[in-house]
Amino acid sequence: MKKHIKSNVHWIGYIDWELEKFHGEDYSITNGSSQNAYLIQEEKTVLIDTVWNPHGREFVDNLKKEIDLKEIDYIIMNHGEPDHAGALPLIMEEIPDTPIYCTANGVKSLQGQFHGDWDYHIVKTGDTLDIGNGKELIFVEMMMLHWPDSMATYLTKDNILFSNDAFGQHYAVAELFDDMADPCTLEKEAMKYYANILTPFSSFASRKIQEIVDLDLPIDMICPSHGVIWRENPMSIVEKYAQWADDYQENQITIVYDTMWGGTEKIAHELAKEIGRISPDTRVKVFNISKQDKNEIILEVFKSKALAVGAPTVGNEVLSSMGGWLYFLKSLKFKKKKAGAFGCYGWSGESVKIIGETLKQGGFELVDTSFKIQWNPKKEDLKKVKELARELTTGAS
Ligand code: FEO
Repeated sequence: MKKHIKSNVHWIGYIDWELEKFHGEDYSITNGSSQNAYLIQEEKTVLIDTVWNPHGREFVDNLKKEIDLKEIDYIIMNHGEPDHAGALPLIMEEIPDTPIYCTANGVKSLQGQFHGDWDYHIVKTGDTLDIGNGKELIFVEMMMLHWPDSMATYLTKDNILFSNDAFGQHYAVAELFDDMADPCTLEKEAMKYYANILTPFSSFASRKIQEIVDLDLPIDMICPSHGVIWRENPMSIVEKYAQWADDYQENQITIVYDTMWGGTEKIAHELAKEIGRISPDTRVKVFNISKQDKNEIILEVFKSKALAVGAPTVGNEVLSSMGGWLYFLKSLKFKKKKAGAFGCYGWSGESVKIIGETLKQGGFELVDTSFKIQWNPKKEDLKKVKELARELTTGAS
């Protein structure tokens, strides 16, 4: 069912209360999500984005209860990823000649995924589309936020920015608006989304935020394609993005480990105690990568000024649970965070070197006091923990 947003703008998306995973199985969802599409009914009728294909039929049926699809004059596809474009083929089956406005990369994405030979109209930043009643849509390319085809659309007079994935969160809120949501959950989910999806594109985010500010458009509302609509103080999330894009960190150190026979675990917990002893103001968090959610751990790394990663050696390599997560961590290209590696071994002992090299490749500043311990750590081995704790807590970037 459509829900009123402002003036002649309605939400017509899908609230996904039961979603547990996103991007295949790669992103954990703990508070539901939504796919937000929008309907503008001025002299021209405009559909902005659609929903994910599994909900496509319901979406089209709901849309038909509100309007005859033939009334749609323009379709704006801000992004071609299937969570927003998945229902487009169902719509185009019924109104195949309706013009679709998107970026040049949007055409590649939509054609590549849906094989639709549709009436594409390529737009660039600053291009406008008259929708009647004195209102225009202004397009803003959002390249790499988070795909090369991403775009935002601004509605004049109502001063609404339809930002697509940017400023979104995986968070289901039936009432749709930020002032109706739990503020702690909202901030956490917005930050988790940024940390896990947008971190590698932070330099693009900084430039784009400045570009949006320079456009000098009044923004009364930001309508993203996931989660709540920002209406109470819409620029607050823009300011948060500016902070997050600027190598964000809090006074926190995160320790992530896995263990085979308890030795590496012993080091991890000893390290947490030692950091707490020498720097009581620093928040310390410890996670076993096999037992806790990898995306939630990435959120904690995002908030941290330093990270310690520990895993034992197995088969001349690092334990596989840690190997997968390290690969993900490396892809996020964190900056200005210290990191150390540690781990136990029985025979060959390669894991700490592998962890250290991967952390460096991932943009972390590797400290000199990473260490490995053969067999089960003895009391004297734990002196090395003190050295690592000191290096992680002092002078962290
Ligand atoms: Fe929400 Fe990039 O799709």
